[in-house]
Amino acid sequence: MRAKITGTGMFVPERRVTNKDLEALMDTSDEWIRQRSGIVERRWITAGEQPADLAEKAARQALGRAGLEPGDIDCIVLATLSAQAEFPGTSFFLQERLGGTTPCFDLRAQCSGFLYGLSVAKSFVVSGQYRRVLLVGAEVHSTGIDQSTEGRDVTVLFGDGAGAVVVEANDDPDDPSGILAIELHAEGKYATKLWIEAPGSGHYPTRITQELIARKAHFPKMEGRFVFKHAVSRMPEVLLAALEASGVKRDDVSLFLFHQANLRINEFVANALEIPARKVRNNIDRYGNCSAASIPILLAEAEQDGALRRGDLVALTGFGSGFSWASAVLRW
Ligand code: ACO
Repeated sequence: MRAKITGTGMFVPERRVTNKDLEALMDTSDEWIRQRSGIVERRWITAGEQPADLAEKAARQALGRAGLEPGDIDCIVLATLSAQAEFPGTSFFLQERLGGTTPCFDLRAQCSGFLYGLSVAKSFVVSGQYRRVLLVGAEVHSTGIDQSTEGRDVTVLFGDGAGAVVVEANDDPDDPSGILAIELHAEGKYATKLWIEAPGSGHYPTRITQELIARKAHFPKMEGRFVFKHAVSRMPEVLLAALEASGVKRDDVSLFLFHQANLRINEFVANALEIPARKVRNNIDRYGNCSAASIPILLAEAEQDGALRRGDLVALTGFGSGFSWASAVLRW
């Protein structure tokens, strides 16, 4: 029994926030942001929009493209680092909108969340527990970042958005499509190199205090250069491991989709592995870093504009907070 992706979907909020718009909020410049990250604009929600709204739109599109109704799904897995509430997970708010009593849960593996989720979805299908899993990556970063100069190193990088896929059982011996291999890794000793400290039950007697707010512990903190260095060594390493595990040759892959943290990181990875630029697709210029949503948004765009054809070999790779990193190889 194999597991394959049968539908993709995406949604980003209408509101465009350009680098110029950020210049009005903090001491930054369009030139700095473009040069360092490749980002030109990102989407941020407006008042009243919720993470589950984004997730629902991406999910319904993926279901539609798979030819399914919400009631056909056996389980919902939602990867996010920006949950709608402390609990329950965003997946429950999504499930309410889709109706029924389908089991659902959130998965927290930051920018590697989609690939960790893909591994979980594949395992559910291959084990026979479920035939159809809806996997969503959904993030609303804009309400959780410091929109002042103090937070500029992180804030300019992040956007809001959601991507979704349907993972289904493939028991047709004549259909070779499927998720061929997934490699997952983590190194918790670097957990605080990129994190949001609060609110968190690691604080006593309450998880959020005036003192935590005063020192902006509720905003992300990142050692950018440290993260960058690890990303450019771990991403090629894990991509090669996934290729080896799947028995696929690098040259036979027609599309490489990397997590969208920084265009420079992706160019570095492609150069290191001698991957031609035409095989790498990025959208960070339009959406910034959407964490767990970046890879499924890329997949949905590639499927929708015909860049993914039946039988194509596709490699997905990400790196993020945790540290966590992962790679998957698929036959479309
Ligand atoms: N605008 C203008 N200047 C800025 C900004 C900004 N937005 N941010 C930082 N600067 C300044 C710094 O203060 C510093 O000034 P100084 O030289 O006077 O001290 C200067 O620019 C250089 O700062 P660096 O942090 O050294 O810049 P760098 O070239 O490393 O680029 C960046 C920063 C883009 C953040 C880069 O380090 C990076 O992309 N890191 C990796 C990010 C990543 O991969 N994250 C993982 C995924 S996210 C997830 O998992 C949630």
